[in-house]
Amino acid sequence: MARSFSQLAINAEKQRTSIAISKNPLEKPELEIHTLGNSVLRKPAKRISKVDANIRDLVKKMLHSMYSAKGIGLAAPQVGIHKQLLVIDLDIENPTTPPIILINPEITGYSASIETYEEGCLSIPGVYLNVIRPSSIKLNFRDEMGRPKKLNPDGLLARCIQHEMDHLNGVLFVDRVTNLEDLKKELKENGFNNKDVMPIQ
Ligand code: NI
Repeated sequence: MARSFSQLAINAEKQRTSIAISKNPLEKPELEIHTLGNSVLRKPAKRISKVDANIRDLVKKMLHSMYSAKGIGLAAPQVGIHKQLLVIDLDIENPTTPPIILINPEITGYSASIETYEEGCLSIPGVYLNVIRPSSIKLNFRDEMGRPKKLNPDGLLARCIQHEMDHLNGVLFVDRVTNLEDLKKELKENGFNNKDVMPIQ
């Protein structure tokens, strides 16, 4: 997920992690982020059966790509890897806040309350549009050591996790935009094709 211009700085929930990398941008990160129109973004991701050093290596590479693009969330399919893996960091300016690593995330509950919020995506650079989603969720996942975890996020973290989890199913936030006039205009202005949107019915 890309940061919206209107977004206030929000502190991420601090969490212990064994993944420690610099948040400084790299000139050319190893994993390229694919953009709207590339079919890799539409392919669903598979569960990770074993959380090992290879997965942690992939996490580091994804973090480098995310930080280099100044994003706050990245899903593995965005770098062409169809595994159920997300990296999130809502506090990218602060070098001491660890990222959140979500492996095989599963949403087990949604709040009845919904919220409208302006989203962006590293795969659709420059496009920022309102999306309606549940304001909080319940989540099961594994961390980067394979340990089962639970989380009940709200606010920006709940928003970001839902956005990134959509990527695991080949869904992009533009598919959920309800203001089709704004959608068409924003896509055109940023060099994207409206035909690459697959509206959620
Ligand atoms: Ni995205």
